[in-house]
Amino acid sequence: MQVMHGLRHHRAGIRKNSFWHTCFLILLFLCSYTDSLNVTIPMRNVAAARGHVVVLGCEFSPHFGPNPDFSSLLVTWQRQEDNRVVHSFYDNKDQLETQDPAYRDRTELFRTELSKGNASLKLRNIQKSDEGLYLCTVSTSQGTNKATLKLDYGVLYTEPKLTIKASSSGILMHFETEGFPEPEVKWKREHGESLSDPIQTSKEFNSETGLYSIQSSFTAPNAPFNVTFILENQLLDQYLQRPISYTGGENSCFVVAIALSVISLLLILTAAALGWICCCKKKNDLV
Ligand SMILES: *[C@@H]1O[C@H](CO)[C@@H](O)[C@H](O)[C@H]1NC(C)=O
Ligand SMILES: *[C@@H]1O[C@H](CO)[C@@H](O)[C@H](O)[C@H]1NC(C)=O
Ligand SMILES: *[C@@H]1O[C@H](CO)[C@@H](O)[C@H](O)[C@H]1NC(C)=O
Repeated sequence: MQVMHGLRHHRAGIRKNSFWHTCFLILLFLCSYTDSLNVTIPMRNVAAARGHVVVLGCEFSPHFGPNPDFSSLLVTWQRQEDNRVVHSFYDNKDQLETQDPAYRDRTELFRTELSKGNASLKLRNIQKSDEGLYLCTVSTSQGTNKATLKLDYGVLYTEPKLTIKASSSGILMHFETEGFPEPEVKWKREHGESLSDPIQTSKEFNSETGLYSIQSSFTAPNAPFNVTFILENQLLDQYLQRPISYTGGENSCFVVAIALSVISLLLILTAAALGWICCCKKKNDLV
């Protein structure tokens, strides 16, 4: 601003055809060019999961060094689409009265990092409406500059719910989960080969919840078998892998084994209880 003011002032001088004024103007331009403030965004695309915390990175240089003078520092984070203020800092403090209500109590600058040229913003409790473009503007005595980043929104897929049903055509395994955005779903055999048939996967978007509802099932013709259900939400680096080891016939043996051990445990307990009662009786008799 001061530079602009100076330029205007000196433009008036040029009209007076002063050679020295022209020289001064050129010098001023050179100085303001080399002294200009750099604002950089380390990650232009940031992905965040609903309800989670994200740090929107923004750096500026030159920074303040060991004895920071924040009085000239202005940091503003805005939504690029509509200029809504996400967070603003000047006069050496957060200026929250200008903040858009949608961001109330969810934003924070890293105060100790500011002097190191780190104007990154912490944004909590991510919501769908946070998706979009963010503009980081920094102004110091060195100048003003800005840079943009894009925030993508996702929802982590819930723990897949498994149901297993045996029928005449085989054993049906069915997984259900929901999240956002659309994931990649596959099934693999024990040694990693992908399975294609007979797999049925449906991905339905529910506009009310904003979530994809995923249903995927695989029918194994006969037991025993080992398969793995895999779901990948690439945006959020979420990778779910749920192996199933179905032993079929052996399973029923296993159930019988459990039943037998439960019965024997009961028998032992009963025997112990009887023994204890007898013992007490004998002791009582002795007294
Ligand atoms: C700003 O960035 C340019 C280009 O990357 C670089 O040449 C210049 O030295 C930087 N200035 C400061 C003050 O960091
Ligand atoms: C800025 O500070 C935050 C919080 O300490 C940190 O997570 C981030 O990595 C810093 N950014 C840079 C570029 O140093
Ligand atoms: C399934 O995996 C288990 C454990 O790795 C293995 O013992 C079993 O033989 C496998 N079953 C089949 C049918 O491949």
